[in-house]
Amino acid sequence: MSQLRGDYKAVWNSLSGSKHAAYLHVAGHTDEDKFHDDGEDTADILRATVGIRAADVVLEIGCGVGRVGRVLAPFVGQWIGCDVSANMLRLAGRRLLGIPNTRLQEISGYDLRPFADNSIDVVYTTVVFMHLEEWDRYTYVLEALRVLKPGGRFYCDNVDLASPAGWRVFEESRLQFKPGERPSQISKCSTQPEIETFLRRAGFGDVNVATRLNFWVYGWGRKPEAK
Ligand SMILES: C[S@@+](CC[C@H](N)C(=O)[O-])C[C@H]1O[C@@H](n2cnc3c(N)ncnc32)[C@H](O)[C@@H]1O
Repeated sequence: MSQLRGDYKAVWNSLSGSKHAAYLHVAGHTDEDKFHDDGEDTADILRATVGIRAADVVLEIGCGVGRVGRVLAPFVGQWIGCDVSANMLRLAGRRLLGIPNTRLQEISGYDLRPFADNSIDVVYTTVVFMHLEEWDRYTYVLEALRVLKPGGRFYCDNVDLASPAGWRVFEESRLQFKPGERPSQISKCSTQPEIETFLRRAGFGDVNVATRLNFWVYGWGRKPEAK
């Protein structure tokens, strides 16, 4: 392992030096049709959890090449894609060309500093928490609460350690890589109690946590209305 896992900018820029590499590290394949279908699936999950409304300002943490933004943007007021990697954002810019209500923003990898308090309707992050240290996952949950408007909604997901396939991910990594040789971006799972704890501790209300496809754990909640 040459890079520290927590040096997200260096790690993810090095994984996305070409379109091919970036697609592989985002989705594990480079098939544009499948990419689009996967994006539709994620958009449907967001509709079923936090809900998607025509006037919403929506922010994705770790947007990659805009897999989800491309299908979601036509259904919302504004879609904002944030990522730690300038390479990913450059590729996202190409995929989103001609979709006017989109904005891309490079972030530090640890916060949502470019965004004002109480300014966003929906914050979501998908296929990102597995690459972050637990502390940095929680900091993003706190940051989501800060930037959301009162009543705003948050969604996050990860691989579920307690699911059969999640356990396989854990075991394969444990057996494949010796300590000191683990790739910086190696996936680390979550559990339902972790996601629920992070959302509740941050101050979200209406917290829900669920699993699906024997693989994913996901949680969503609402920022309390101002008193
Ligand atoms: C597996 S990809 C998923 C991309 C996108 N969410 C999707 O589902 O298509 C992980 C993305 O998270 C970004 N990322 C990694 N660490 C990050 C961090 N600390 N803050 C923001 N983005 C990060 C990577 O650059 C990459 O684009």
